[in-house]
Amino acid sequence: MTQDELKKAVAKAAIDYIAPRLDSDSVIGVGTGSTANFFIDMLAELKNEFDGAVASSEATAERLKSHGIPVYDLNSVSGLEFYVDGADETNERLELIKGGGAALTREKIVAAVAKTFICIADDSKMIGILGAFPLPVEVIPMARSHVGREIVRLGGDPVYREGVVTDNGNIIIDVHNMDISQPIRVEEQLNNIVGVVTNGLFARRRADLLLLGTKDGVKTIS
Ligand code: A5P
Repeated sequence: MTQDELKKAVAKAAIDYIAPRLDSDSVIGVGTGSTANFFIDMLAELKNEFDGAVASSEATAERLKSHGIPVYDLNSVSGLEFYVDGADETNERLELIKGGGAALTREKIVAAVAKTFICIADDSKMIGILGAFPLPVEVIPMARSHVGREIVRLGGDPVYREGVVTDNGNIIIDVHNMDISQPIRVEEQLNNIVGVVTNGLFARRRADLLLLGTKDGVKTIS
């Protein structure tokens, strides 16, 4: 199976999971990236069975709207039953690295609000210790050098993602070679640096359910 076929399989598994649990008032949090895009395209088939969606990025909002799915501001909804999104890495505890598409801050906000965070990923994303994928950090532009120096003090190698401006008008620093054997601790340490908006470790709020695409079928891990 190709990686795209695995992504489609997990997107379909997420649809199969949420479909019987939706009602006409349901609002769904929807993530960003190529796996989430397959989910959005399939969600369009269900659009008469739920109220609408909250998007984790401008790109996702546009894609949802192109299918005629109403997109709400998070502040105008009373809650989210589900958040469905991909990941750049996951471990067995469902702690994640996200933000390869620079949408990590809104993703983290939507995940924080949702009752159930369903992560959809192909098995190339499963890893023993997080950190082979450089950890994205969203930073207020004027703090770029300061944050870089603090990341070096924590043992990481910061690399400015040139040419990328987030939906919130900030920059991204990707952290290479960081020891992330204790994800909650590293998440907190990075958040404590002045000028950091958020970082791409989803450890304190990890996924509740992982639908992992493998050549033998979709595995459900919770
Ligand atoms: C977006 O910022 C990311 O968190 C994505 O969820 C992540 O990069 C996964 O993307 P793919 O589904 O394209 O691999």
